[in-house]
Amino acid sequence: MRRRDKGKVTHDRCSGRSQLLNGTLQLLYGIIFNPGNGWTIWAFVPFNSIFVLHRCGYSVVALPTESIFNSMKAKKKIIIVGATGTMGKYLAAAFEKEHDVIRVGTTGGDFQVDITSTGSIERLFQKTGSFDALICTAGPTYVGPWKNMTDKEFRKGLEGKLMGQINLVLIGQHYVNPKGSFTLITGALTYEPVINFANASAANGAVEGFVRAAAIELENDVRINAVSPTVIENSPQYFPFFQDIPVTMKQLEYGFRKSVFGANTGQVIKPYWESR
Ligand SMILES: NC(=O)c1ccc[n+]([C@@H]2O[C@H](COP(=O)([O-])OP(=O)(O)OC[C@H]3O[C@@H](n4cnc5c(N)ncnc54)[C@H](OP(=O)(O)O)[C@@H]3O)[C@@H](O)[C@H]2O)c1
Repeated sequence: MRRRDKGKVTHDRCSGRSQLLNGTLQLLYGIIFNPGNGWTIWAFVPFNSIFVLHRCGYSVVALPTESIFNSMKAKKKIIIVGATGTMGKYLAAAFEKEHDVIRVGTTGGDFQVDITSTGSIERLFQKTGSFDALICTAGPTYVGPWKNMTDKEFRKGLEGKLMGQINLVLIGQHYVNPKGSFTLITGALTYEPVINFANASAANGAVEGFVRAAAIELENDVRINAVSPTVIENSPQYFPFFQDIPVTMKQLEYGFRKSVFGANTGQVIKPYWESR
């Protein structure tokens, strides 16, 4: 708009010129890519779109990329229960570069919870308020010789890894934002038993069943998945029990990324290549 104020007109002209320059520079960001198979791909930043054109010149596809990239980049409020443990510490450090991470442990972290207590979980969410994603890497189980196992030992995994995680979802569903997500922890022991770990195998299998069922019940486009690694790189104390190539911490991170930032739901994500 033309202004009477002389100084202002000058200012508007300058900003108009800089906008034009900016637009021209943006046009230069466009890419024309010929993969050599008869197709040419054009991508232009100002249009925020990807156009795929055939050689003879007609348009085949136009994708609006801006909304896709923006939804991937949007800052999320992520609660990590188990954030003081081996997995949780690594994930919290990785995700806090781009998102608001709330660390939760039993004694450390920003907030404390005992996932074996529904009252404690309710109090946690009252303090944190609503959230976009909940990651749980807390899954206490009994590890020890089979002949020492009684009902008491077995209940450690049932009340901890199983009901603890289920209650995080049952209570957390009233605090999670629309299009939010839950990511629970299981492990390869579900299908590959190892001596001394029967309690974890049973809890994992039940959590995975819960994840598939919850995915078809959760409302408001809320998603839920489980991440199921084998022994991880940062837990060498478990190497003697698992005759497996350890999952690297990067693989583990990307398993969780797939759940938190992807579109999948009801899945058990195995963050390693399966040869079988
Ligand atoms: N490590 C592996 O190689 C591996 C491989 C596959 C699957 N997994 C599974 O992954 C899970 C995490 O493994 P990790 O190695 O990261 O374990 P970790 O180092 O022992 O950490 C456990 C975390 O859970 C928290 N926690 C324990 N009991 C809790 C409770 N009742 N309420 C709330 N939080 C509780 C701990 O908090 P505090 O420290 O504050 O007590 C800690 O933050 C386990 O369920 C494990 O079975 C582990």
